[in-house]
Amino acid sequence: MVMATGIAMASACCTCPETAVYLDESKPLEDRVEDALSRMTLEEKVKILHAQSKFSSAGVPRLGIPELWCTDGPHGIRPEVKWDQWDQAGWTNDSCTAFPALTCLAATWSEEMSALYGKSIGEEARFREKDVLLGPGVNIYRTPLNGRNFEYMGEDPYLASKMVVPYIQEVQKNGVATCVKHYALNNQEAHRHSYNAVVDDRALYEIYLPAFKAAVQEGGSWSIMGAYNLFRGEHACHNDLLLNKILKQDWGFDGAVISDWGGTYDTVEAANKGLDLEFGTGTNGLDSKYGNSYDAYHLAIPYQEKLRKGELSEEVLNDKVRRVLRLNFRTAMNSRKPFGSMNSPEHNEAARRIAGEGIVVLKNEDNILPVDLEKTGKILVVGENAIKKMTVGGGSSSLKAKHECVPLDGIREAVGDKAEVVYQRGYLGDLLRSYNSVDTGIDLSDERSDEQLIADAVAEAADADVILFFGGLNKSKGQDCEGRDRSAMALPYAQDKVIEALAEVNPNIVVVIVSGNAVEMPWVDKVDGIMEAWFIGSQAGHAIADVLFGKVNPSGKLPFTFPVKLEDNAAHATGAYDAESHVAEYKEGIFVGYRWAEKQQIKPLFAFGHGLSYTTFEYGEAKCRKAGKGFKVSIDVTNTGDREGKEIVQMYIEDVESSLERPVKELKGFSKISLAPGETKTVTFVIEPDMLKFYDPAQSGWVLEPGDFVAHVGAASDDIRSSVKFAVK
Ligand code: GLC
Repeated sequence: MVMATGIAMASACCTCPETAVYLDESKPLEDRVEDALSRMTLEEKVKILHAQSKFSSAGVPRLGIPELWCTDGPHGIRPEVKWDQWDQAGWTNDSCTAFPALTCLAATWSEEMSALYGKSIGEEARFREKDVLLGPGVNIYRTPLNGRNFEYMGEDPYLASKMVVPYIQEVQKNGVATCVKHYALNNQEAHRHSYNAVVDDRALYEIYLPAFKAAVQEGGSWSIMGAYNLFRGEHACHNDLLLNKILKQDWGFDGAVISDWGGTYDTVEAANKGLDLEFGTGTNGLDSKYGNSYDAYHLAIPYQEKLRKGELSEEVLNDKVRRVLRLNFRTAMNSRKPFGSMNSPEHNEAARRIAGEGIVVLKNEDNILPVDLEKTGKILVVGENAIKKMTVGGGSSSLKAKHECVPLDGIREAVGDKAEVVYQRGYLGDLLRSYNSVDTGIDLSDERSDEQLIADAVAEAADADVILFFGGLNKSKGQDCEGRDRSAMALPYAQDKVIEALAEVNPNIVVVIVSGNAVEMPWVDKVDGIMEAWFIGSQAGHAIADVLFGKVNPSGKLPFTFPVKLEDNAAHATGAYDAESHVAEYKEGIFVGYRWAEKQQIKPLFAFGHGLSYTTFEYGEAKCRKAGKGFKVSIDVTNTGDREGKEIVQMYIEDVESSLERPVKELKGFSKISLAPGETKTVTFVIEPDMLKFYDPAQSGWVLEPGDFVAHVGAASDDIRSSVKFAVK
């Protein structure tokens, strides 16, 4: 009897761990999902589809399924925030490593660096016991005014597609999901909650979707974040074409679609058009909020009531629940996760290495760089961005970094007593010192007038052997910051005046731009050196000093075009960007970035793919041969200088003749190689037929037209060293 009862008890007891398939990690994921689903009540199903706090959503306590915890951001793990606030909770053990912004990662053109980045940030997210990392961002750089370009990977879909994959794969090895964002067409911050992106199919499929497709199909991202904006009249967080058709049906995405915080607007829309997990309703994603209790969320009680009345499909509900359970089993319920680590020497070394590989030397006249400390007596450092911390601010990617070495400190440490380092403010910019109650502890106030600041800097300039000017942008609203776009492409504050004044007395100037966006440079011919140093986090000062003084040979190249002036940019030239409008019609179509510059024959200030090294490289003749269904293009590259260096060899494809207009050429391959002095390596690019296709809206698909193509191989989009023709039969 006891036995019978015992067996009866076992089968009746639905939560006994030894009998539950969903808890058995040796079972196939889908079996576990189905088992858990079959045990859940309607209330439990609805409850896991929306937030229960600012950054967490409920599990199923009765079944032992834990909560899911999300965290920003793409560059480091946000400090713990209060249950239902944006402000930090005031923990004392949640300072993080601030890694370089993703424009810098993209500028490394190194999949190895992307993997190192993902591993490092994934370990920090895991250590903080977060299940979903709200990043990386891969929105295409369409206008230099977009406040959030610093969080993304540039203007080219091929580069972004290649650079996003290793980051995702390595983060997820920690049992932490990435949440690639913001899907899709969030290419500006102006009216980000309301603008309707009107984009033709060609631009959608050739420019704006590829990086997300790669993130899903090659990266295997376990979640994706819907954007705030509308696309073709439907909010991206519940958009039938983007979510149900393209993402889930065409691409086979099996993860969860998570709304941006405050990106959900309607229960029926959210239910039927692809949203799986609703967060942040009632906020603008940054600050303002109206009291919207979690049960009032669109996918909470309102959803449950409509389900009860049979107004909405239970099958659709179950699909959402499966996706959230899959996300949970891969993360929160994954008992095999590594432990993670935080602020380790390895992470700081990784931040420094990635930064060193991403810094771009744009100009180096008379070899002013690297600065030779043996021949240098006095270094004058000028500019607010030499002393300003950049990890605080910028919106949701803001951090509480355990370390942040600002440029001036990095320079002083590297120079030691080899030379005199004098600092002058030069200009007064932005006094922001805290964000979400994270304080930099630096008081940047200065009583002097603009004129006095310039005079004081110029007074130190005449007898300096080299002047290092640190300018660019910062993380305050209206600069490189979420929630608003910049109002101009020029450097803000009195920076241009300071640079001109310094150049008057001493041309030995290196201008270091700290930014995540292109800026105008009216003084470009008056200075010898220009460097784009990005926002590079905890190790900024050290990484910049490494390159300035030659410890690291720069190898970064631009992931987006620096136009001479704003009107040279496609969106602005076509009048397709209007910060006041609630419609963003992408009139330029596929002609974004260098695609536009080359079509219009506009010479950029610095071209896509441009970046200098302290050594020189020579390219041989490109050769092309048939290989399987495609081709292989090979070329020898030699280091003809006297020091080791890395070169990013780029391959662009030109379709000589096509039924639809195509760009002059498009990036379809890159390889970063390291060469010792005198060393030659052969770089080989594989050309698959798919890479030669273009999207034809009339056929709603990709087409490959026979005919002649040309592979252009070089050091930059405007520095082609060898070209070779081939024909597709
Ligand atoms: C923000 C951002 C998004 C971020 C989220 C949570 O508004 O748009 O990138 O991850 O809300 O902070």
